[in-house]
Amino acid sequence: MSKISLRNINKKYPNSDTCSVRDFNLDIEDGEFIVLVGPSGCGKSTTLRMIAGLEDITDGEFLINGEVVNDVSSKDRDIAMVFQSYALYPHMSVRDNIGYGLKLRNYPGNEIKASVDNISEDLFLTEYLERKPKELSGGQRQRVALGRAMVRTPKLYLMDEPLSNLDAKLRTTTRTEISRMHKDKGAITIYVTHDQVEAMTMADRIVLMSMGEIQQIGSPKELFTNPKNCFVATFMGMPSMNLIEGTYEGGQFTCQSFTITLNESDQQILNDAGYNGKSVTLGARSSAIRSGKKYRDAFPDCCFETTAMNSEYLGDAINVFFNAAPMNLFVGTLGTGEPDVAIDEKITLVIDNTKLHFFDTKTEESIKYSIKSAEFKK
Ligand SMILES: Nc1ncnc2c1ncn2[C@@H]1O[C@H](COP(=O)(O)OP(=O)(O)O)[C@@H](O)[C@H]1O
Ligand SMILES: [Mg+2]
Repeated sequence: MSKISLRNINKKYPNSDTCSVRDFNLDIEDGEFIVLVGPSGCGKSTTLRMIAGLEDITDGEFLINGEVVNDVSSKDRDIAMVFQSYALYPHMSVRDNIGYGLKLRNYPGNEIKASVDNISEDLFLTEYLERKPKELSGGQRQRVALGRAMVRTPKLYLMDEPLSNLDAKLRTTTRTEISRMHKDKGAITIYVTHDQVEAMTMADRIVLMSMGEIQQIGSPKELFTNPKNCFVATFMGMPSMNLIEGTYEGGQFTCQSFTITLNESDQQILNDAGYNGKSVTLGARSSAIRSGKKYRDAFPDCCFETTAMNSEYLGDAINVFFNAAPMNLFVGTLGTGEPDVAIDEKITLVIDNTKLHFFDTKTEESIKYSIKSAEFKK
């Protein structure tokens, strides 16, 4: 049983003027799979390295099971780590690399062999067990590094972009494998990635960071459906959420390209929050922007005419980019049963007004956030 707490953690590197991590607060419960996600340079690796004990904590407290361990050395924290740079022992075979952690802890030889055989099979490494790291591809080395961590059962697994060198197909299989092994072992896992798809598919809870600060913590569903601000809204989900600046007045949202009538519950929220007659930023995912008679009939006050600029064929859907000032591009997803769109052709688009987000144009904070987050806490 483990519980981990990070309290007001700050990190300032000695050669830097600013903090790389600011006021980081997080409690992690036993068995949770936490994904730290955010753009490059936002402080993910720095946070993970402080948890690992490889980097000093400038300010704040790191606790394992209620005990402050800021000054406990890395090797005494009972963690297994996987880094982007595999850090394998070059003179050892794959088998010895994977089994090394168990050997250090004096496990009997037959037990080490059985565990290594087992994990190697899960990670498709069986045929490479007698090779040296230099005889492997980058993706194979990355899997050896994973195997070396997963063969153990520590209090805590830490992984820093462990799938970055795998091709798309292997990344998906290994992702599933890591999730499965995590369920088997039940130890807390903190996983760092810049890839929102990995975060969405693997996490129990996502911690989304930007410029050294946490933007939002929550389940994948929570971040996707109730983003706290514009940054979270556009970071999670592909294609990125459309954000359009305009004005809210008398139940309608107006921007340069269109006016739509909002649904009653959104009108109430905006009125209550004092936005009548004020500027707001409308957020609409591509899945809320449709075409076709069915949608025109369902949302007659939410239609407007525009021109298709470009399209991306995805098989069972098409992402179409439209002209919609003040945005240059505006993406909608047209599915089966909706009309084909030719480039430069005029088309009537429909905004599904039951799926909209609203942000304060100045602060970029979500106007619906606190109301919706109460629903998540129920
Ligand atoms: N050893 C270091 N010395 C000084 N600055 C560093 C060091 N390591 C990282 N940084 C800076 O800290 C910030 C966060 O880096 P990092 O944690 O590696 O980001 P991420 O893993 O999210 O890409 C960056 O601005 C980076 O330049
Ligand atoms: Mg990093």
